[in-house]
Amino acid sequence: MSTPDVIPPAAEPAPADSALVRAARGLPVRHTPVWFMRQAGRSLPEYRAIREGIGMLASCRRPDLVTEITLQPVRRHGVDAAIFFSDIVVPLAAAGVDLDIVPGVGPVVAAPIRTRADVERLPLLDPEAIPDIAESVRLLVAELGPTPLIGFAGAPFTLASYLVEGGPSKTHARTKALMHSDPDTWHALCGRLAAMSATFLRVQVEAGASALQLFDSWAGALSREDYVRFVQPHSASVLGAVADLGVPRIHFGVGTGELLAEMGRAGADIVGVDYRVSLTDAVARLGGSYAVQGNLDPALLFAPMPVLRERVLEIVAEGRAAPGHIFNLGHGVPPEADPDVLTRVVEIVHEAAAR
Ligand code: CP3
Repeated sequence: MSTPDVIPPAAEPAPADSALVRAARGLPVRHTPVWFMRQAGRSLPEYRAIREGIGMLASCRRPDLVTEITLQPVRRHGVDAAIFFSDIVVPLAAAGVDLDIVPGVGPVVAAPIRTRADVERLPLLDPEAIPDIAESVRLLVAELGPTPLIGFAGAPFTLASYLVEGGPSKTHARTKALMHSDPDTWHALCGRLAAMSATFLRVQVEAGASALQLFDSWAGALSREDYVRFVQPHSASVLGAVADLGVPRIHFGVGTGELLAEMGRAGADIVGVDYRVSLTDAVARLGGSYAVQGNLDPALLFAPMPVLRERVLEIVAEGRAAPGHIFNLGHGVPPEADPDVLTRVVEIVHEAAAR
């Protein structure tokens, strides 16, 4: 029997072995992984400083800024994943749609899309139009080492809502009116948006992102029937178009308690849960076959620490019923949140026994 002269070095930890990717795949983890939607943003003074005088869309196209802003919350909070700093409307703007992100408002579209002719004028996204996105991801992956980077895109319904309404809407009235009154135009619009989102996701994963999230933030405005008929096929087309890349796919929306099973069936590996449904109920609705992500109510970040701590521990405990659990907020970090409280949440999640 020969003994090797050199003991091979322990394999370098890799994002594929991270707690986030393992939990997404339902594998055992040492601690529940945690990250926060909108962890990069106005809650951080270092974010406000670096963004001073630079527009949101412009900053999303500068690899130096994207890299620094994405890393800020990872350094500060010790979260288990970075989320790529960008926006759901970046691919639309890169394809040539005239829009802006107005501070305190959100995306505003110069010429709303409401007719078949409008849809036919909607450009598609050429991956060649976003070399900076691939460049930012490559820079980030090199800096992040074993910490996974989550790439993301907006789902067709949420993007369509901004395009049809012309900006943020509470009711999504014109969007719903269009889907019911002119289904052909609606499906043509969503088909184009699905192709753009799939391209945006592929560019990020091919450049090194280890997981992805499809944000259908406003899908909770729909009935289950309308979701299945008008929206799910297009979200399924986005998730299906990136299935071959082999990275875990998270599917999230706000107020989607009635849609959780359908969002899973659209082709997700992990279903994001907002704070209106307990993880226990979510796991039951999902039939135990998906990992879950969530779901601390962001309002609890403003509660006294003992109250917050107890709620965080309850959520970690509830998550044990799922095949895998990624801790997150039920929606994004509010700009007024105290960053030290977020750091404390990460510590509490990490100290709790995982499973
Ligand atoms: O840290 C992260 O989560 C990554 C970055 C990220 C941003 N937008 C940065 C951003 C992500 C994942 C998004 C996705 C996004 N953008 C969604 C889906 C997520 C969700 O919140 O449901 C939606 C609906 C949008 C559209 C959008 N862009 C809104 C509603 C806003 C807020 C407008 C405002 O000023 O209140 C934006 C702008 C935006 N996107 C900001 C950030 C950090 C704030 C702009 C700024 O800092 O000036």
